Amino acid sequence: MSETTRNRSLDTHAGTAQADVEERLIENVLQSFEDCQDPRLKDVMQSLVKHLHAFILDVRLTEAEWNKAIEFLTAVGHITDDRRQEFILLSDVLGASMQTINVNNAAYKDATEATVFGPFFVDDAPEIPIGGDIAGGAPGEPCWVEGSVRDTEGNPVPGARIEVWEADEDGFYDVQYTDDRVSGRAHLFSDSNGNYSFWGLTPTPYPIPHDGPVGKMLESVGRSPMRASHLHFMVTAPGLRSLVTHIFVEDDELLKYDTVFGVKQSLIKDFQKQPHEMQTPDGRMLDGQTWSKARFDIVLAPGAVNGKV
Ligand code: BEZ
Ligand code: FE
Repeated sequence: MSETTRNRSLDTHAGTAQADVEERLIENVLQSFEDCQDPRLKDVMQSLVKHLHAFILDVRLTEAEWNKAIEFLTAVGHITDDRRQEFILLSDVLGASMQTINVNNAAYKDATEATVFGPFFVDDAPEIPIGGDIAGGAPGEPCWVEGSVRDTEGNPVPGARIEVWEADEDGFYDVQYTDDRVSGRAHLFSDSNGNYSFWGLTPTPYPIPHDGPVGKMLESVGRSPMRASHLHFMVTAPGLRSLVTHIFVEDDELLKYDTVFGVKQSLIKDFQKQPHEMQTPDGRMLDGQTWSKARFDIVLAPGAVNGKV
């Protein structure tokens, strides 16, 4: 046997032995979950192990890289508190939030599509009447939003609870200020015909919080932290599937690059600019100020039947 042939065969042998070691470890780890009494948990954990190991083997992860990953996740944990949720941000910028939403909100007839929840929802936003103002003093161009809530058979849904929240024109949600203000958010209920309307602010683009580890990661890979301009909605009504979504502004350049992958074509709306001399839909003149208006008709899918829609 020539020297080269002998070396090649040794290499192949070593390679096979190495692959066996790696494969045996995966089998051992999978086996360690075999006695799990919760079948769903067992399935999820074993699948996670398979994919995690496949990733490590795929990139031949170095020990230094793994340590860096642990440091990164530790930093994500350290910056997270009641007001700052860096894990949600991480899930969002990796598209994991959006993919989970896709899996759990399958298209159903003409039901309105869902998108990311984001970290800025607050449970106890004030109630406003139909036609009320969510701005609460937040700076920005006034925007009249109106629409209807219907089911997929076209029936109006009266009394649907509509939560709306958005950033001000400086790109900040109220909870990002330190003075406990409540602005740019409210909830209202659709009327007896399923219609609703309110005053908000014309949405403007803003960066996701990028002064933490997720922001550093985006910078390292040359990604922008900007989100396309949007207005958040969460709509709930008894017997119907809850909807968490946004509407986006037509012609916004960031529609293609939304850093959390939240944009869906059906959610892009025409926010029509109105001159200051135009009377508003609720019969007012806005004192030299331009305003905009948008329509968003919401269709809710039926609630879960045996866990499926
Ligand atoms: C938001 O739209 O509020 C948001 C969504 C994902 C990450 C950060 C912010
Ligand atoms: Fe947002």
